[in-house]
Amino acid sequence: MSSPLDAFSYRNGELHIGDLAVSDIAEAAGTPVYVYSADAIRTSYRRLAKAFAPLGARLHYAVKASSNLHILRLLHGLGAGMDVVSGGELERAWLAGVPMSEIVFAGVGKSRAEQRAALDGRFSPLKEAAESCGGHGIEGRGPVGLFNVESSSELEVLAEVATELGVTARACIRVNPDVDARTHEYTTTGKEENKFGVAVPEIPSLFDTYRDSASVRLVGLHMHIGSPVREIEPYESAVRVLLGLIDRLEAAGHPIEVLDLGGGWPVCYTDDDSPDIESYAAALIPLLESRVGTGLRIVIEPGRSILANSGVLLTRVQHVKQGRFKRFVVCDAGIHTLIRPALYKAFHFIWPVRVDAAHIPPIAAERLDLPDLYPSDVVGPICETGDFLARNRNLPAVTRDDLMAVFSAGAYGMSMSLNYNDHPRSAEVMVDSGKAILINRRQDQATLLRTELSPREL
Ligand SMILES: Cc1ncc(COP(=O)(O)O)c(C=O)c1O
Repeated sequence: MSSPLDAFSYRNGELHIGDLAVSDIAEAAGTPVYVYSADAIRTSYRRLAKAFAPLGARLHYAVKASSNLHILRLLHGLGAGMDVVSGGELERAWLAGVPMSEIVFAGVGKSRAEQRAALDGRFSPLKEAAESCGGHGIEGRGPVGLFNVESSSELEVLAEVATELGVTARACIRVNPDVDARTHEYTTTGKEENKFGVAVPEIPSLFDTYRDSASVRLVGLHMHIGSPVREIEPYESAVRVLLGLIDRLEAAGHPIEVLDLGGGWPVCYTDDDSPDIESYAAALIPLLESRVGTGLRIVIEPGRSILANSGVLLTRVQHVKQGRFKRFVVCDAGIHTLIRPALYKAFHFIWPVRVDAAHIPPIAAERLDLPDLYPSDVVGPICETGDFLARNRNLPAVTRDDLMAVFSAGAYGMSMSLNYNDHPRSAEVMVDSGKAILINRRQDQATLLRTELSPREL
């Protein structure tokens, strides 16, 4: 599996991405800044695709992991369809040039407006803006390839909207298999007590209800049990639940064309020994290959496993405070830039961008056996005690204006960032073919204020 350091190297004591020193990128783009390696994205995409090739699996990249248009274009160019969970993500995928037929639309709370735009381009919130944003025309845009539906209520509304528009929506039902993915409780999605999906016993009657519907055609089943899922067994259990359900449905005269296994595929945030993506695929292939042989189409929705270790967040030290027990390294990135540590107690390896020879990190790990390290919290500028990127780490000495690199930040970094305390969102840079390209300018303060400047009576 790719390590947090794979796409980066320390040369002469300075962090590089390819041949570029990341400090030059930070100098030019300012900080905080997200930097992605196009080569690392290509490598992890191809590795995942190869692992699931024996199932002929179709990859739909989960846009929520990192939604920059240029990342979507790169992945679509490699052959990926898209998995979106909002009208906004749908428009992004469309602007990136992805045909609607290659988009699956998931999400537990789709509105009528979002469903309309997903069925008929005339209802796109972008309309003419689409062309000026570099996308293609909205007129004549057909329905998305697949809706992943999360409740009978959503199915009723989808049928109404599709009838209104005179189109047929193809849909999978998202199954809640009641399987514990044994990940953080906030990212566990396949347990009975979670809001996601439909319980197994309720599903056959939904297929019966929509058997002859002209507006909704139920073509398959979907699951997504959590993210990241660090063990293989929960996938096996969930797939067995869905296969049992497929047998029941087919026996009742409902042919199942599509089985969407969702995302959650593994990522190394430290150089640990979690199983790699090939082991997940190897465990699932024997369960599924005979079904694929008789026509079942497999879809997967990876996000994190492609992007996480393809990106790094660069942040500049603003101040160093020596507390009684540890140092506080106060950076310009915080929970507004990368919320995962505060939200999920997520681990990100963090290290200075410039180090002496004794401090080149051999691996990405919570504890490194190196000389002269100091207990430190890496914190941000936000007025919350929960504003930290790392706690109780042993770090080399750093001083004001030093640059720090936060590794494994390519997924759920920028896409989850916030404007809390009125901080603008970061810039994004893509390194490709030895060049650093600014793929998203830093938000400016005026943008944050614009929608408040002209109040009007309703
Ligand atoms: C429905 C669905 N599919 C795919 C994903 C992507 O998961 P990951 O980025 O872990 O691959 C998510 C993430 O939450 C999801 O909710």
